[in-house]
Amino acid sequence: MIKSCVIGLSKIGQIHCSNLKKIKNTSLNYVYDKDFTLRNKTAKKFKCKTSNSFEEILRNKEVKLFIIASPTTTHEYYLDKLIKYKKMIYCEKPISLNASKLDVLVRRIKSNRIKICIGLNRRFSDAYIKMKKLINSKNVKIIQIISRSSNANVKQSVRNGGLFMDKGFHFFDLACWFANSFPNKIITIANPLSTKEFLKNNDYSDAVVNMKFKNKVIVEYIFSRNSRLGHEESVKLFGNGFKIDSDKFFKKSIIYKNFDIKHKESYFRCLKKFVYLNKNLLLNEGIQTQKICDEVLKSARLN
Ligand SMILES: NC(=O)c1ccc[n+]([C@@H]2O[C@H](COP(=O)([O-])OP(=O)(O)OC[C@H]3O[C@@H](n4cnc5c(N)ncnc54)[C@H](O)[C@@H]3O)[C@@H](O)[C@H]2O)c1
Repeated sequence: MIKSCVIGLSKIGQIHCSNLKKIKNTSLNYVYDKDFTLRNKTAKKFKCKTSNSFEEILRNKEVKLFIIASPTTTHEYYLDKLIKYKKMIYCEKPISLNASKLDVLVRRIKSNRIKICIGLNRRFSDAYIKMKKLINSKNVKIIQIISRSSNANVKQSVRNGGLFMDKGFHFFDLACWFANSFPNKIITIANPLSTKEFLKNNDYSDAVVNMKFKNKVIVEYIFSRNSRLGHEESVKLFGNGFKIDSDKFFKKSIIYKNFDIKHKESYFRCLKKFVYLNKNLLLNEGIQTQKICDEVLKSARLN
């Protein structure tokens, strides 16, 4: 049994808590959040322990697996500690806010033989798995991705690295996965589309991103922190004589629901695969996507 702890107990942390309880060879032993009330309430809910001191949990040699689900601004701090104590790590995307520090971080992960997974769970979503299978023998030429959210909060976006790190991350990764390639040209328009509230906080609320991939696939993204319909997420794949639309693979009743409902099964599958695998999962993809985010941001500032 792999004894575990979840750090950061908002919606995403709570999903991981319940999944750790469902996987046969993991147990949820600790939860930790900087918010005293939330960590105590969550410990009660999941019948596990908590502590006022994260160091105390860290020093417990029996607790092997840690899930980092706290804001992205805190990832580097926790990664540093967990590597020092040679723990097994599932880190929510993105790895950190600072792509320039990634190389050093990855060297430490490798030299300390840390087993790590980056939570690119969209690859485990039913709809996207079906779409990936359908294009197995097909040539995708254009990919269109739309992600609009309702009730977005500027502070939360900033804590998680801004529009591209927070929202774009999964979709940049999905595009690489569907296209089987990486972008070599990126054009981003964000400033003229964004609201003052986000611009004042050095972030963007809206953006249109165009990418040309090394294998000539063209990808168009529309991101927005506003949506009257609810949460909108759609991926369309086009090629000669075919169009595959992700909307067809979701039940109508959940089309405008948030990620925790629309991709519910993907969190469980990604974590389970990592737990049973004896090597890293999606680390290189996480690094690659982080570099793409950096380039998109540079291009947004330029245009
Ligand atoms: N894979 C996905 O689909 C998905 C979805 C949502 C969020 N995320 C990622 O999960 C992470 C958390 O995002 P969020 O929107 O829930 O963040 P958030 O800002 O809502 O905070 C999450 C929780 O962390 C706690 N927290 C804050 N600082 C902390 C600290 N120093 N130590 C411990 N706990 C602390 C907060 O009290 C809160 O309960 C981010 O990295 C985000 O990118 C991934």
